[in-house]
Amino acid sequence: MVNNKTFLSSVGKKIFMSLTGLFLSLFLVVHALGNSTTFWGRESFNSYAAHLHSLGPLIPFFEIVLLTVFLIHIFLGITLFLENNDARPIRYSVSKASGGRTPGSRTMPYTGIIILLFIGVHLANFHFTDHSLPIAELVKNTLSTPIYGLFYIIAMAALALHISHGLWSLFQSLGVNHPKYDGLLKNGSLTLTVLLSGIFILIPICALTLANFLM
Ligand code: HEM
Repeated sequence: MVNNKTFLSSVGKKIFMSLTGLFLSLFLVVHALGNSTTFWGRESFNSYAAHLHSLGPLIPFFEIVLLTVFLIHIFLGITLFLENNDARPIRYSVSKASGGRTPGSRTMPYTGIIILLFIGVHLANFHFTDHSLPIAELVKNTLSTPIYGLFYIIAMAALALHISHGLWSLFQSLGVNHPKYDGLLKNGSLTLTVLLSGIFILIPICALTLANFLM
């Protein structure tokens, strides 16, 4: 049985899911732009990392905010998934307004789990690690190891699928869906998905295949 209260709270959760998704997407844009300096060589990437670290105490503050937002996003995602299973009439990610059923929408919970697993491995690789090596060397050494390189490629493909639905659907949930701008939003979301995933996926591909990458 679905009552009004459950319905309203589901809508509220979708809005929070979208706002946290928007914040995480902005983080991805900044992270992808920063990481794209790897394509200009080790000096560019090391210098970008040095600039980032010069932000000092702002970094742990931002990390706590990011972690909190990420945990809320996961909690809401799981709750909405369980509610959808209990109450078929209110489907979270498959309504026509949110773009219909697409490979991205169908696989949201699974790609979400892969991303969660990825974050664990990723933080172990680059955050909770010995920082005596320059960051470019750390990234090169890690991603040129086949098991990590391939894992990153698979995880980045899952991220592409996740945001291919997430970016478009977050605008729908936030009510940004005027017929006049729907095409623009759809194309904009797709372009951003391709750009972000393209940068993230190219880095492990380059590390695995180009001997002089980050050298
Ligand atoms: C090939 C793709 C990626 C590369 C090469 C990469 C590289 C890095 C590096 C080097 C750091 C440490 C930065 C530092 O402390 O100087 C880092 C931190 C981080 N990355 Fe990535 N990253 C990639 C993709 C991603 C993706 C897709 C996500 C999210 C889904 C992500 C989330 C994070 C987070 C949460 C941190 C910790 C931020 C912090 O410590 O403030 N990364 N990444």
